[in-house]
Amino acid sequence: MKSDTLIEAITQPNWLDAAGDALQPAVLQAYKAGGEPGKQLKNFLHGTWLGHPLHPVLTDVPIGAWTVAAVLDGLTLTGQRQLAPGADAAVAVGLVGALGAAVTGLTDWTGTTKKKRRLGLVHALLNISATALYATSFALRRQQGSRGAAIGLSMAGYGISSFSAYLGGHLVFSQQVGVDHTATSVQYPQDFVAVLPDAELAENTMRRVQAGQVPVLLARKNGEIFALAHTCSHLGGPLSEGELLPDGSVRCPWHGSVFSLADGRVLAGPATEPQPTLEVRVTAGQIEVRRQS
Ligand code: FES
Repeated sequence: MKSDTLIEAITQPNWLDAAGDALQPAVLQAYKAGGEPGKQLKNFLHGTWLGHPLHPVLTDVPIGAWTVAAVLDGLTLTGQRQLAPGADAAVAVGLVGALGAAVTGLTDWTGTTKKKRRLGLVHALLNISATALYATSFALRRQQGSRGAAIGLSMAGYGISSFSAYLGGHLVFSQQVGVDHTATSVQYPQDFVAVLPDAELAENTMRRVQAGQVPVLLARKNGEIFALAHTCSHLGGPLSEGELLPDGSVRCPWHGSVFSLADGRVLAGPATEPQPTLEVRVTAGQIEVRRQS
């Protein structure tokens, strides 16, 4: 079966939408109920502080640990029983890592919609299944005479988590979840180009303009003009349709990421990558921009 056909089949069931409709607002509400600490925790779990999504960093822990466990379990079956404690420890490390991967993944999933959300949910359910198998395996490893069953469960978990990792890769590489949607900023003009008459940008307003082929967000705040990439780095939302905030930042209309107008810094996730900023000047009544030199 071709990869696209497989993904289509996996994301077809209607109950995935119903489950997403119920779970996604509940998770967001839980963070919101936590007030400022809840907001800080959400930003931390997205990886806003890291400049990169935190989830893929943590997924390496269970995948790596459980790969080690699979190898050591295989060797114990060939008679090298002294390796059994190492295999058990690797299963335990993977379980701890899976917890971190689950929490960060769930947080990132709150910013997805449609097919991405359905696929993310399948990815999560598979990971929960794999983790449950490993947790049962870990418990059995402590019981006399149950090692064979424990290894069997671990191997089943390994197969499921490997397939789930493939779906996670599809979410990133095909669906572009977690990638920087401003990575094409190299196309911004090297020389200043006029984008709008100065008189057409009122105080406390934002406008979408074109700098050559590339859309740019212009904003005027406290008399100063700012220019940022118009496409949100998170999932490509149109920043000019968002909100210009009193503190000199802009909120994306899609999932609420907040960026500083002055330097593009991420002030609130789910975005983890900053918005590229452009140089601005006013010449002969025209606002001009160019890429940062
Ligand atoms: S597209 Fe998600 S916060 Fe902007």
